[in-house]
Amino acid sequence: MRDAPHIPVLLAEVVDALAPAPGERLVDATFGAGGYSRELLERGAEVAAFDRDPDAIEGGQILVGESDGRLILIEAPFSAMDSELDARDLAPVDGVVMDIGVSSMQLDQAERGFSFQGDGPLDMRMSQAGESAADFLNNADEGAIADVLYQYGEEPRSRRVARAIVEARPLTTTGQLATVVRKALGHKAHDKKDPATRTFQAIRIHVNRELDELVEGLVAAERVLKPGGRLAVVTFHSLEDRLVKRFFKQRSGSMPAGSRHLPPAARGADPSFEDVGRAVRAGEAEVAANPRARSATLRVARRTSAAPWVGEA
Ligand SMILES: C[S@@+](CC[C@H](N)C(=O)[O-])C[C@H]1O[C@@H](n2cnc3c(N)ncnc32)[C@H](O)[C@@H]1O
Repeated sequence: MRDAPHIPVLLAEVVDALAPAPGERLVDATFGAGGYSRELLERGAEVAAFDRDPDAIEGGQILVGESDGRLILIEAPFSAMDSELDARDLAPVDGVVMDIGVSSMQLDQAERGFSFQGDGPLDMRMSQAGESAADFLNNADEGAIADVLYQYGEEPRSRRVARAIVEARPLTTTGQLATVVRKALGHKAHDKKDPATRTFQAIRIHVNRELDELVEGLVAAERVLKPGGRLAVVTFHSLEDRLVKRFFKQRSGSMPAGSRHLPPAARGADPSFEDVGRAVRAGEAEVAANPRARSATLRVARRTSAAPWVGEA
């Protein structure tokens, strides 16, 4: 596969939660480098895996070849997993796993434009299609940029950063953007966290519609899971984890107030999930071996036999 292999996060816990058995059909909604899929195949399951990044699908062809026809790779957003599986007659399924966010391969390749560690074009598109980070930053008005930085990056000085971006346009590289943000916020060499981190996260989430995708993916998983089917979701920051937590709360019948990103509660609907587990985090040994695991949270629930809830995000 790629030169910088992606180390799967919380692999043992995910496999444990999915409890794959020979002959079962499972969905890996975020194939990446295939870390989860490989393990599920080894347990005898059939896997339908999604990724919206054409590079991930290309890299996965080796594993397809080794899988005795038990792995199928689908280049599509996981929000469409229900229609994509229906079209191939692959639904319903026994389990779904979602490992949200970017892969190490995406982050490490400067030309994908996700990272300010190396200089590359301001791209950040997982699917390599549609509006790029440069398109957004060079065309959106200052208020819209500030809103994105505030909502998706939790950047407290979003207006100041947005103003600096607009003044520096046109921006074409990740290096330029990082410099503009550091200058706007002040950056000392010994700062623990680069001040550009929040801005890069925010723009990535916006460009890839990551929070909307997550909610639509959860709803699609609810539609394709068999009664008793398992759903396991790994997220990497609190904005995402909050959505997963609330989705499981809502669908298991103890719904707090609605969220902009969650489908409106369908009053009177029977719980579609049960056995909602507590949040699982990586242990010290895993974090020491793979620092990316530090911020990972796994949540798991089991599908009931109730109909999927209605209501769109
Ligand atoms: C964290 S990586 C997954 C790593 C994988 N579990 C492994 O062990 O190799 C996330 C992957 O999901 C893909 N992805 C993220 N959001 C997606 C979406 N909405 N639809 C389809 N693929 C998505 C990304 O392109 C990336 O390859």
